[in-house]
Amino acid sequence: MENKFELNDVIEEVIISEEEIKKRVKELAKKISEDYKGRDLCFLSVLSGSWIFAADLVREMEIPVQIRFIFAASYEGTESTGKVDVITGKEFDPEGRNIVIIEDIVDTGRTLTAVKELLLDAGAKSVEICTFLDKPERRVVELVPKYIGFKIPNKFAVGYGLDYNFEYRQFPFVGVLKKEIYEEKA
Ligand code: IMP
Ligand code: MG
Repeated sequence: MENKFELNDVIEEVIISEEEIKKRVKELAKKISEDYKGRDLCFLSVLSGSWIFAADLVREMEIPVQIRFIFAASYEGTESTGKVDVITGKEFDPEGRNIVIIEDIVDTGRTLTAVKELLLDAGAKSVEICTFLDKPERRVVELVPKYIGFKIPNKFAVGYGLDYNFEYRQFPFVGVLKKEIYEEKA
């Protein structure tokens, strides 16, 4: 990509390239399509971080799938607050549904544990997780996503939908943000 965002000023290192992402998204869609062939499937995309991943993933799916959205947030800046806010559309009834939650990144695991519980309590038949990124080192609650795009080290990642205070989502790759960016704004 051209240096139109002055990338070198904000990104310390690109950790996953656009090409690697494309290839992996295709593989994940193929696997989920095989696993749910002949069954009802509803994707639940967790906003805001997973929107780009979800958009690419659904277009590679080889079976019909419904797509719904929820809002969930536990982050302020670069730190998990431990409190999780989940907002679901009232019209969505999870009862009896096979649901695959689409998430940008699983970090402490708190957000998706809360979402998963909410869905199972509401009668979902099955709930699995498809996360673009996983930071297993940071987990504070036990949560194992069934589908994982990439495991990454404990660094703050941006791009491909992941943000820092609503910025940098537009990068087509995943990069590690320079420390001075969040220290400066903190
Ligand atoms: P958890 O509840 O700690 O697992 O939080 C997961 C959520 O925190 C993700 O859905 C992201 O919105 C946010 N998050 C965690 N790590 C990062 C990161 O490295 N970059 C951007 N957002 C992150
Ligand atoms: Mg998120």
